[in-house]
Amino acid sequence: MFKLPDLPYDAAALEPHMSAATLNTHHGKHHAAYIKNMNAALAERSDPPDTVEGVVQLAVRENNKKLFNNAAQSWNHGFFWESLTPTPQGDPQGDLKLALEKAFGSIADFREQFKTQGAGHFASGWVWLVSDKSGVVKLVDLHDADTPIVEIGTTPLLVCDVWEHAYYIDYKNERPRFLAAFIEQLANWRFAEAQYDAARKGEGGWKFPT
Ligand SMILES: [Fe+2]
Repeated sequence: MFKLPDLPYDAAALEPHMSAATLNTHHGKHHAAYIKNMNAALAERSDPPDTVEGVVQLAVRENNKKLFNNAAQSWNHGFFWESLTPTPQGDPQGDLKLALEKAFGSIADFREQFKTQGAGHFASGWVWLVSDKSGVVKLVDLHDADTPIVEIGTTPLLVCDVWEHAYYIDYKNERPRFLAAFIEQLANWRFAEAQYDAARKGEGGWKFPT
């Protein structure tokens, strides 16, 4: 059985950009429910995988949408907590900075594209910054529980949750203001840079804690 991972910071640490009320509900209720539901589905099986990544892959193989939704949402939220930091980190650095400039023109242009894509995403989902093995980066917005870890050769670097439960307490319907706070104040670039290194080394990057 999988456990709800602790947040990597105090629930109030991201204020004023993300409130403790949001994190307590999002982590303590929503994320916890996905894990509980995943565990319940796995309890019926004799051969449950021992990693959440394995559960996601199993659900894909079996075309089991309910298991996929709960396993992928368990994984996506774990990755989302790592994508946030209470310590503003300015711009991405090093090779990731160069890759973003190559793909988007400049870091400022990247931030604008992130905000435009996130605001334009219809209904629930996630905005992912991903890399392929050669180090080419791009933004993809995926619906509901969909996750780039099912794409062979793709490594996520950073993600922003654009389900309403991620921002409605703090920003009501103003998703663009939430996206701006994420990409300008909360984004954990040191984590994204480490993921970028892993992507190019074929190491896979962050794993859900077991
Ligand atoms: Fe969420």
